[in-house]
Amino acid sequence: MKTLIWNGSPRKNGSTAYLISELKQGLNGEVRVVDVYREAIEPCLDCRACWKKPGCVQKDTMQELYSDIINCDNLVIASPIYFSELTGPLLSALSRLQMFYAARRFLKKEYITKTKRGAVILCGGGDGSAETARKTACCLLKHMKADPAHVIVSHHTDVMESWKDSAAISQIHSLAAEWNR
Ligand SMILES: Cc1cc2nc3c(=O)[nH]c(=O)nc-3n(C[C@H](O)[C@H](O)[C@H](O)COP(=O)(O)O)c2cc1C
Repeated sequence: MKTLIWNGSPRKNGSTAYLISELKQGLNGEVRVVDVYREAIEPCLDCRACWKKPGCVQKDTMQELYSDIINCDNLVIASPIYFSELTGPLLSALSRLQMFYAARRFLKKEYITKTKRGAVILCGGGDGSAETARKTACCLLKHMKADPAHVIVSHHTDVMESWKDSAAISQIHSLAAEWNR
């Protein structure tokens, strides 16, 4: 079983990182965490080369991540909520998914033949809604052919970081158990 986790947090020991590490520890098989604040992943430039030829012309870390997306069984988008959205660097990195869309739309080519299981993990410092970020994460998961069946939110991290959020931790453990079955 292969799991690919997109980490949209800049904080190495923050709330998102904690929930990711709990999930990683609980999961069987191979787990790769993509730390978007630290990886060299350029944004999509809308150069439209992928409209005419398969693949992306930007040769960076995203090239191996395209293979991981195609081959994995489980996909997770984990992010803090910034201004009700996923963080900028996460949206920037995932703008490169446009290559898959262009292949489907213009080249009639489907790179991702295997449907994946998907999950969204969000951490927010306020009591505001996670709805905008959830919708964006679900849309991005669908672009990678993952079914966003699980959404786990840790709210109020300004007063209680995720490692004290027993409800969120328990949902993470249930998710790992389900995917391991
Ligand atoms: C620039 C910025 C914008 C933020 N906007 C929101 C927001 O709209 N809603 C919210 O609940 N929390 C917001 N927060 C708080 C973070 O979501 C919160 O601190 C989160 O737990 C950080 O996750 P991390 O520890 O994994 O990095 C914001 C924080 C920053 C730095």
